[in-house]
Amino acid sequence: MAKNNPLIVIITAFLVLSLMFSLVKAASTNITTDQHALLALKDHITYDPTNRLAQNWSRSSSICTWIGITCGVHHHRVTVLNISYFGLAGTLPPQLGNLSFLQVLAIGNNSFSGSLPDELFFLGNLSSLRLVDLSYNQLSGTIPSSIFQISSLERLDLTSNMFDGQIPSTISKCQLQMLSLSDNHFTGYIPKEIGNLTMLKELYLYINELQGEIPHEFGNLAKLEVLLLRKNNLMGPIPSTIFNLSSLISMDFTYNSLTGNLPPEMCQYIPALQVLAMSVNNFTGRIPVNLSRCRNLRLVSLSYNQFEGSIPRDIGNLTLVNQLFLGYNNLKGTV
Ligand SMILES: *[C@@H]1O[C@H](CO)[C@@H](O)[C@H](O)[C@H]1NC(C)=O
Ligand SMILES: *[C@@H]1O[C@H](CO)[C@@H](O)[C@H](O)[C@H]1NC(C)=O
Ligand SMILES: *[C@@H]1O[C@H](CO)[C@@H](O)[C@H](O)[C@H]1NC(C)=O
Ligand SMILES: *[C@@H]1O[C@H](CO)[C@@H](O)[C@H](O)[C@H]1NC(C)=O
Ligand SMILES: *[C@@H]1O[C@H](CO)[C@@H](O)[C@H](O)[C@H]1NC(C)=O
Ligand SMILES: *[C@@H]1O[C@H](CO)[C@@H](O)[C@H](O)[C@H]1NC(C)=O
Ligand SMILES: *[C@@H]1O[C@H](CO)[C@@H](O)[C@H](O)[C@H]1NC(C)=O
Ligand SMILES: *[C@@H]1O[C@H](CO)[C@@H](O)[C@H](O)[C@H]1NC(C)=O
Ligand SMILES: *[C@@H]1O[C@H](CO)[C@@H](O)[C@H](O)[C@H]1NC(C)=O
Ligand SMILES: *[C@@H]1O[C@H](CO)[C@@H](O)[C@H](O)[C@H]1NC(C)=O
Ligand SMILES: *[C@@H]1O[C@H](CO)[C@@H](O)[C@H](O)[C@H]1NC(C)=O
Repeated sequence: MAKNNPLIVIITAFLVLSLMFSLVKAASTNITTDQHALLALKDHITYDPTNRLAQNWSRSSSICTWIGITCGVHHHRVTVLNISYFGLAGTLPPQLGNLSFLQVLAIGNNSFSGSLPDELFFLGNLSSLRLVDLSYNQLSGTIPSSIFQISSLERLDLTSNMFDGQIPSTISKCQLQMLSLSDNHFTGYIPKEIGNLTMLKELYLYINELQGEIPHEFGNLAKLEVLLLRKNNLMGPIPSTIFNLSSLISMDFTYNSLTGNLPPEMCQYIPALQVLAMSVNNFTGRIPVNLSRCRNLRLVSLSYNQFEGSIPRDIGNLTLVNQLFLGYNNLKGTV
């Protein structure tokens, strides 16, 4: 009897609860709240070279017709705020945290400065966010750890800003697929909790001041395709578990102080690898004899290390390679 099926009772209860939750959320705020939030943003713009917001974000028209704004078809609340490439300067007001239906916050390639207001993510009002792109601005301060409490978050791009401090270790609570903190001033250790982000496909931490070892928990990132750690102060070996991540396409460890050697059998487990960049570190040992089994390699850069022994003969079989750097090691032989 379906009526008494506990599973159905639970599912129904869940549906009723989620409906009530969205009604409560919708009842405590409305489109006027969204309008206030966007007008607060407009007020915080100090430079608008094409006058786009100045002219277009007018009180006399519905915010859903404003440039850079998309509203939900049913609830008519703001779901997308995309003002990337508008050339704007300004700061981010806390009121943006009131856009409770926001899924996409994209302000990349502008000149926003200042820090991220604590209120922005703190109260969990932005609980539908999927994508946050703040890349190529001049934002500073630390990352509020509250951003990682947003369980719907899939992409977080903070590339090329002036953020500093440590990467929060509460990072594990969301389902991130892409995380870029590259080209900032992050310091401290890479939190091992990043290894809990098992949906992660792309991890960009290059050009920061990160120190310590690469956590062996990265070996849990079974979907990882791109791992770029270039230009930090990392030391110790590359955890062997990383060479078992069969989805890996690109690895860049250039300009660190990493040590240890490449596992002889590495290509058995990472056949899709296209980029292997390890220059300017302190790697030792031999270049794997069977490196040519990584048939998809396009770039191999091992220069400025302490690799020794002979250059594997079969390296010439890597027909897709268009950049091969082996110089400044203790290698013998020819290619
Ligand atoms: C939004 O709610 C406020 C009070 O909470 C109310 O004054 C206003 O009329 C509402 N606006 C709309 C468009 O429903
Ligand atoms: C704002 O820009 C949008 C998209 O370009 C346009 O459809 C709308 O009419 C503009 N509104 C005003 C008030 O200029
Ligand atoms: C935002 O707009 C830019 C330019 O119109 C576009 O290239 C980009 O894909 C958009 N971003 C998102 C997340 O939709
Ligand atoms: C929106 O955000 C501001 C600042 O965080 C807050 O003072 C205000 O009460 C919020 N709520 C509404 C409904 O605008
Ligand atoms: C969060 O939403 C509540 C109402 O749902 C509002 O009172 C509060 O001011 C909001 N805070 C921020 C920072 O968005
Ligand atoms: C964004 O801006 C940066 C810095 O001005 C530039 O290097 C980059 O190419 C821009 N991104 C795109 C996709 O145009
Ligand atoms: C996250 O990782 C840490 C250390 O790797 C572990 O102790 C913890 O249980 C994990 N948390 C979750 C929620 O998976
Ligand atoms: C890598 O995977 C192979 C095959 O599944 C296994 O034998 C080996 O122990 C793994 N190595 C590491 C370092 O996890
Ligand atoms: C490699 O090790 C030597 C000797 O300890 C050190 O002087 C050098 O700076 C190291 N190179 C890198 C890139 O870490
Ligand atoms: C290299 O591959 C050959 C087969 O192609 C295998 O016999 C040999 O054991 C491998 N050597 C290493 C060091 O992995
Ligand atoms: C590399 O090419 C040589 C000559 O064509 C061939 O004998 C050898 O088996 C190839 N090695 C691999 C690993 O494919």
